[in-house]
Amino acid sequence: MLLSFLEEKSFTYMITMSQTRELLRRILKAFNADENYIDTIVNELEELGVEAIIEEGELLLHTGVRVLGKGQNSVVVKCLYKGETCACKILRPDASRRDLIHEAHMLQIANKVNVGPRIYSYRAHIIVMQLIRGVKIEKYVQETSNKFKIKKIVIDLIEQAYNLDEIGLEHDELSRPEEHVLIENDVPYIIDFESAKYRGRRTYRNLTQILNALLVGRSKVAFKIRNMLNINDVTSIIQLLREYKKNSSREIVNKIVSYIDTV
Ligand SMILES: Nc1ncnc2c1ncn2[C@@H]1O[C@H](COP(=O)(O)OP(=O)(O)O)[C@@H](O)[C@H]1O
Ligand SMILES: [Mg+2]
Repeated sequence: MLLSFLEEKSFTYMITMSQTRELLRRILKAFNADENYIDTIVNELEELGVEAIIEEGELLLHTGVRVLGKGQNSVVVKCLYKGETCACKILRPDASRRDLIHEAHMLQIANKVNVGPRIYSYRAHIIVMQLIRGVKIEKYVQETSNKFKIKKIVIDLIEQAYNLDEIGLEHDELSRPEEHVLIENDVPYIIDFESAKYRGRRTYRNLTQILNALLVGRSKVAFKIRNMLNINDVTSIIQLLREYKKNSSREIVNKIVSYIDTV
């Protein structure tokens, strides 16, 4: 009885693994991966204990497969890990980086102050992390007509950026929040720590980058946010950011938050 149960389980697992291999081949072929590279990824997935890859997501690759997203260096797919749906970030064979180890370390540090998707495990070419069932910030602000929701997102991002500033982890790409913030259930998540640098001493750059991009800049997102929050003149924000650059303290952050709260 027990034996037949086990046999059944492993049989199901084998089928899933071979299907996963086939799916992975179609995903990685979109980036001209050779068989060697596909083997490397399959081995790492097995080592990590990833149970399956799930074909689902916003983005359709030219090989006809759906994935969660892709960037210059990676492709991100939905997967099953310890019985939960997660996200697997897989290094592209044509990436300019050799591995995802630095990014995994940066994400672990960010997680210590509750920033970023939770990282569960990693190998040289794969990061298994929390799946964010979210939309990009640009889509979110275009579709939201609720001023308070926008304020909440901006304030939440200020707090997250401040947390990163305090521990000295510079994300370095927050001047393009369009690509680096996903929003799930009105909660923003900062993603993609590939360019992050750990300074180990307080910095000001996360907060100044993201607020410049969200409130001061000329992007569609900034226009929409200023419009929603009735901000016609950005000199007060620029002034506050200058103060913060000189003195990256909680006190200045509180001033920035209360400014946004009252507009
Ligand atoms: N944890 C996640 N959950 C859901 N989707 C994700 C997650 N991480 C990344 N993505 C999607 O994958 C895309 C590429 O990821 P990103 O980390 O920016 O890759 P790259 O380092 O190659 O630029 C993102 O724009 C996003 O759409
Ligand atoms: Mg990127």
